[in-house]
Amino acid sequence: MTIPLIRVEEVSKIFPVGGVFGAKKYIKAVDNVNLEIGENEILALVGESGCGKSTLGKLMLALLKPSSGSILYYINHKYKDVWSLKGEEFREYRRNAQLIPQDPYSTLNPMKKVISALTPPLLRYKIARNRREAKKMAAELLEMVGLSPPEDFFERFPCRLSGGQLQRIAIARAISVKPKFIVADEAVSMLDASLRIEILNLLLNIRKRLKTAYLFITHDFAIARYFARNERIAVMYLGNIVEMGRTEEIIQNPLHPYTQTLLATVPIPDPKLARKRELPKLRSLEIPSLISPPPGCKFNTRCPYAESICEEKTPELREVKGRLVACHLF
Ligand SMILES: Nc1ncnc2c1ncn2[C@@H]1O[C@H](COP(=O)(O)OP(=O)(O)OP(=O)(O)O)[C@@H](O)[C@H]1O
Ligand SMILES: [Mg+2]
Repeated sequence: MTIPLIRVEEVSKIFPVGGVFGAKKYIKAVDNVNLEIGENEILALVGESGCGKSTLGKLMLALLKPSSGSILYYINHKYKDVWSLKGEEFREYRRNAQLIPQDPYSTLNPMKKVISALTPPLLRYKIARNRREAKKMAAELLEMVGLSPPEDFFERFPCRLSGGQLQRIAIARAISVKPKFIVADEAVSMLDASLRIEILNLLLNIRKRLKTAYLFITHDFAIARYFARNERIAVMYLGNIVEMGRTEEIIQNPLHPYTQTLLATVPIPDPKLARKRELPKLRSLEIPSLISPPPGCKFNTRCPYAESICEEKTPELREVKGRLVACHLF
């Protein structure tokens, strides 16, 4: 691994919920997360809906402020808390850390033509010197994301574009400022299956060209496996990272019982391997509420192997067989 570009240190995010009529309650959407992403690395973040993936992505982009802990960004030979960055350093971080969101319809202003979505960031960050140069760069970007000839797209409004085309424009806009780090949050989940691989390959090509690092958020293990092959996967459950390591190692031999159950939904083409894979029988299918998560290991109410310690003590993420696992069984 190269030097980490961005470090997440003991980060938690608490949201207040309800409270209009009843007592105010709180949920810990992200609970004491530690991770690092190096230059040009991919970390796929996998977990069920509501486990805190988008919240973690937004925290890493400083779109949300942590309730505790810090997000550190490597800038001018030092790690600095992104919330302490000022002036030129903050601008540099903002430029270098970009989001590709899930819903391409929500990203683009419906009243603005494609060209007006692409040129402002180029001018704002002085990547283009003037409007003419910005337009030329916008054309190159559209070609790069597979929208050609670009002139055909410049004058169109978002409503005249398909979901796949819109997502390509969202990608073009995110990469236009040459970011070092991209959070791709379910970037392909709203697209047709036939388009997904194309967009995933586009994102992988961009990484080759620009040496970008990705936090690649998905609820789909098969997509994570494809996108993060030869890289790393982190599995999240109710705000915690429960397992993190090399993609193939986790897929061939998941250690955390939760990873095992998630993987049960991924088809394995190799019948020998498929037979070898033991699937745990869950004690309960119900995902506990984040308002009152079970004490100890949050997975204990569903885990088939839970022992008394699992109800008492929160397991720490520890190194087991060359990866990190948060489970008392190891
Ligand atoms: N601004 C907010 N205010 C209150 N609660 C929030 C807020 N944002 C997220 N949450 C809650 O935090 C939890 C985690 O949400 P988050 O969107 O991070 O999950 P996710 O893993 O991205 O889910 P999905 O796969 O559905 O996108 C959820 O219970 C969600 O309702
Ligand atoms: Mg999400």
